[in-house]
Amino acid sequence: MTEPAAATSPSSPDDRSEPLLDVVDLHTHFPVRGGLLSRHREVVRAVDGVTFDIQPGEVFGLVGESGSGKTTLGRTLLKLADPTSGSLIYQGRDIAGYDEKQMRPLRRELGLVFQDPNASLNPAMTVAQGVGHPLLIHGLVDGRAPMRERVAAMLERVGLTPGEAFLDIYPQDLSGGQKQRLVIARALITEPKFVVADEPVAALDMSVRARVLELMLELQRDLGLTYLFITHDLATARFLCDRIGILYLGNMVEWGDADALFNDPQHPYTRSLLNAIPLPDPRRRDRDKDLPVGEMPDAQTPPKGCRFHPRCPVAFEPCGWEGADLLAFFERRWTLVDSDQVESELAATGSLQAVDLHHDRVRFDAGNPAALTKLLEQLRTEQAHPLFDAVTGIERDGRGVAVSFGAGPEPALQTVAGREVACHLHGTVPRER
Ligand SMILES: Nc1ncnc2c1ncn2[C@@H]1O[C@H](COP(=O)(O)OP(=O)(O)O)[C@@H](O)[C@H]1O
Ligand code: SF4
Ligand SMILES: [Mg+2]
Repeated sequence: MTEPAAATSPSSPDDRSEPLLDVVDLHTHFPVRGGLLSRHREVVRAVDGVTFDIQPGEVFGLVGESGSGKTTLGRTLLKLADPTSGSLIYQGRDIAGYDEKQMRPLRRELGLVFQDPNASLNPAMTVAQGVGHPLLIHGLVDGRAPMRERVAAMLERVGLTPGEAFLDIYPQDLSGGQKQRLVIARALITEPKFVVADEPVAALDMSVRARVLELMLELQRDLGLTYLFITHDLATARFLCDRIGILYLGNMVEWGDADALFNDPQHPYTRSLLNAIPLPDPRRRDRDKDLPVGEMPDAQTPPKGCRFHPRCPVAFEPCGWEGADLLAFFERRWTLVDSDQVESELAATGSLQAVDLHHDRVRFDAGNPAALTKLLEQLRTEQAHPLFDAVTGIERDGRGVAVSFGAGPEPALQTVAGREVACHLHGTVPRER
C-alpha cells in the first residue's frame, strides 16, 4: 500500500475513492455448439452482468463455488478473456474494447498468479529465463547480465535465497512451495499495479499454504500492489481481504467490507457459504445441514428470476419459479409421504422423465390428466410450496396437462447495511437486462 489514504478499505459504496478498476455490467459469454437441431446460438454465461470496483491498494476477495465464473472474471479483468459487453475502467480508461496492441503498454502493470505452478512454469526454461522473460518482452532490461541481477533480487524477495543459487536450475528441481514462489516472482518482476491471484495456494500442501499467503500479503504491502484474490474458501478470504465479492452463476450477489460481510451476511447464498465452513466445535456441526441444497445449475441455462432460487432455503413468491422446480418439488415430496400416496400421485403425473420441460411451462403427457389437474389445484390451494404462487395456469387438454409459470423478476443489487446485495428479501428491485 503506497499511501495511507489508499489503505483504508471503503465500508460503503458511497465513500469510494477513485477506483483502480471500475467494473460495470460486465459480461463474458463463451459460444458453445448447440444441440444438433438447435437453431439458437448457445452461450455459456460465465460472467453475466457483474458490477463492482477495486480500490487502489486493497485486496479484493472473489469467492464462490467451482463453476461460478471466478477464473473467467479474473481473466476478463486482465483482458485475457474478451468481455462480451460492459465496461472495464482501468485508471479512468475503458479498456473493455481494447485490442492486444492497445493493451501492450498496460500489460506490464497487470499480473496473474495461477493456481497450479506446474501448469504455469515452462519446464524447458531455467529459473532465470522463466522469471526474466517478461522483463525482456517488455524491454525493461538491457541484456542478460542486468536481467539476471533483477531476477536474483526478485527471487530473494519471494524467499528463494540466495537468489543466484536458483538462477540456473529448472522448475522441476524445486518443491511445490518453491515453485509457487517462482510463479509469484514472475508475476511481480515487471512491478505490476494489479495482480489477479487465482486460488494461488489451492494446489499446495497444507503445510506451506500459510507461508505462501503471508508472503503474498507482505509483497502486497511492500510493493503497493492491488490484488484480486480468488478463492472458494470464505474463511481464507476474510483473513486476507479488505473487501469480498460473492459470485454465483456469473453474478455478484453480495459485495462489500470483508468483516461486515462475514459477521452479518445479507444474502442467503453468503449465509450458506458461511455455514459450510467447518466448525471446530463438534456440537455445532449440525450447521452443515444449512449447505445449499443441490448442485449449481448449468451456466448455459441459468434459472429464471433469482438464479439462486432452486437452492435458496428462504425463497418466496417473487424469486422466480419454473417447471424444473415443480419436478423437484414432487421428487422431494415423494421422499416424505407414504408409498400408497407416492403411487397414486405418480400415476397422476406419469414418469417425471417423460415430461416436456421448459423454463416457463411444463407438460405432463404420460399420466392421468384428470387426476393430475385435481392434485395440482389442491396443492395450489394448500400453498404446499411458494412455487404454486408463481403458477399462472393449469391447463388440461385431451392428452395431458400443461402448467405455466410467470417470470419472477431478477433481483438487482441494492445497498443494504453498507454493502451491495442482490436479493428480494431486501425489497423487490428488478434488474434491467
Ligand atoms: N473457454 C471456455 N469455453 C466454454 N465455457 C467455459 C470456458 N471457460 C469457462 N467456461 C465455463 O464457464 C463457467 C465458469 O467457469 P470458471 O470461470 O472456470 O469458474 P470458476 O473459476 O469459478 O470455477 C463454467 O460453466 C465453465 O464450464
Ligand atoms: S431473491 Fe433472495 S430469497 Fe429469493 S431466491 Fe434469491 S436469494 Fe433467495
Ligand atoms: Mg477457477
